[in-house]
Amino acid sequence: MFHPLQVREIERLTDDAVAVTFTVPPELRTAFRHTPGQHIALRRTVDGQEIRRTYSICTPATGEPVLRVGIRLVEDGAFSTYALKELAVGDTVDVMAPAGRFTLEPRPGQFAGIVGGSGITPVLSIVTTLLARQPDARFCLIRSDRTAASTMFLEEVADLKDHYPERFQLIHALSREEQQAGLPSGRLDEQRLLTLLPALLQVASVDGWFLCGPFGLVQGAERALRALKVPRGRIHEEIFHIDNGAAAPVPAATAPAHSTVTATLDGRSGNWPVHDGESLLEAVLRNRPDAPYACKGGVCGTCRAFLVSGEIRMDRNFALESDEVDAGYVLACQSHPVTEKVELDFDR
Ligand code: FES
Repeated sequence: MFHPLQVREIERLTDDAVAVTFTVPPELRTAFRHTPGQHIALRRTVDGQEIRRTYSICTPATGEPVLRVGIRLVEDGAFSTYALKELAVGDTVDVMAPAGRFTLEPRPGQFAGIVGGSGITPVLSIVTTLLARQPDARFCLIRSDRTAASTMFLEEVADLKDHYPERFQLIHALSREEQQAGLPSGRLDEQRLLTLLPALLQVASVDGWFLCGPFGLVQGAERALRALKVPRGRIHEEIFHIDNGAAAPVPAATAPAHSTVTATLDGRSGNWPVHDGESLLEAVLRNRPDAPYACKGGVCGTCRAFLVSGEIRMDRNFALESDEVDAGYVLACQSHPVTEKVELDFDR
């Protein structure tokens, strides 16, 4: 469900990125309390067309929470262009309550993040919350940006280093700048990480890895970690950009000639036909426009639902962890029926 929130502040982070802070009225404070690492979906309607995008919350989940997101301009990005060029303090934007499972509840241990570009946004919330709330936790952040000038939250991250010199380790690779003393240059690809990670920390003793950024970086980092024998359950991923063709859709299984979807949403259920080729989300949206979604691309996880009965196939999944899939969760925007009857529960 979307809530109209007023823009309280817009800060320029780099030439192509801003941080936007919203005012959360007292009656919505509980709904907008976030777990570090979560994102919010923003909605805007242009010429009758609805645009939705998800952006990660960059502020810590400590004290009175502040709802602040980082937005980087994306080429031809309808929402980011609006946010950077038109959005002004005092404007109202429709905002969905925080969601997402790329999260870390503070606990003792050693954690690490490998992030690229705007992938720093959720990890900044994770690190700042963890170090402030858990004195027995350490974090090693490996970040990659094109140049220092294009780096989002450069000062906030530098402040963490000053504040927690014993517990926060920072490696900043700049792909388009000359190598600086002791810092890696060039892209953080799989080969580079295979050498870098064991030199930086005891890979086996890291309790959780948080990978966030473009598809190529996250996939390369995951392959490097798996090659270094890191168990799958310790790796958490959030992908921000997918190049078209980055992952081929799963080949279609034989679809039934007629299929129906039963869906429960906010305690109300309905049963509707699924038209040829459409996703379960589209079938539900035709009848329940309040069904949750943002990217419709298998990336944000907003359309996550529990598969109560029946079988589906997903075109692609960049949002659900393998244990969520094993537990029966699906992305409705990527799901197509394989059996004649399929039942989804969006409330679980
Ligand atoms: S709407 Fe984003 S994953 Fe389905």
